[in-house]
Amino acid sequence: MAGLISSQATVLLLLMCCVGSSMAVFFSSLPKTLIVTASPTPGQALYAGVDQINVTWSLNQSLPAGADSAYKKVKLLLCYPPVSQADRPWRKTEDHLQKDKTCQFKMVVQPYGRATRGSYVYTIERSIPTGTYFVRAYALDADDTQVAYGQTTDAKKTANLFDVVGISGRHASLDIAAASFSAFAVVALVFFFMLEKRKGKK
Ligand SMILES: *[C@@H]1O[C@H](CO)[C@@H](O)[C@H](O)[C@H]1NC(C)=O
Ligand SMILES: *[C@@H]1O[C@H](CO)[C@@H](O)[C@H](O)[C@H]1NC(C)=O
Repeated sequence: MAGLISSQATVLLLLMCCVGSSMAVFFSSLPKTLIVTASPTPGQALYAGVDQINVTWSLNQSLPAGADSAYKKVKLLLCYPPVSQADRPWRKTEDHLQKDKTCQFKMVVQPYGRATRGSYVYTIERSIPTGTYFVRAYALDADDTQVAYGQTTDAKKTANLFDVVGISGRHASLDIAAASFSAFAVVALVFFFMLEKRKGKK
């Protein structure tokens, strides 16, 4: 009986180990094989819902042939550098990619074309919050697992960053204007209603 339980426990342990290990991908284990560029100039401010980013990616040509044999897709993401993460645990970088909050905004997933250079023109979505960003590309294998990466910034994520001005910051003043306008409309309505009533009495 005890033997049965322990063998069941072993099977369970084996299952847990292997399911876990097939899912866990650590950023530090990924080779940097993609060369990624994006159109914003360092420090440029782009407007959400308006401006576009032209991203290009290609395999580093100094790698041996076949280095990209497992690559099936390329996923482009907008990511937070440390300057955008300070005091914001919800943007925290984790080596375990499933827990990582560095790159929260998908720009696109494209098929990986061998011996070609990919590019994509992305219009910054209205939902992208104000912040400083860089672009990262992950090469995905047939299981959509990250197997390599490239990014527009350096390893410390301090160079070549750009800013996004989000919708909410810009529209606050408009909202206030709209609110005071409707308050004015209500007052005016009441005023004219009273005026009509007085006229009626006369
Ligand atoms: C994006 O950039 C690449 C490389 O600079 C260029 O070849 C391509 O024409 C650009 N695409 C657009 C739509 O601007
Ligand atoms: C390309 O790969 C070579 C060899 O690994 C490396 O020395 C070089 O820095 C890489 N180039 C870029 C632009 O990342």
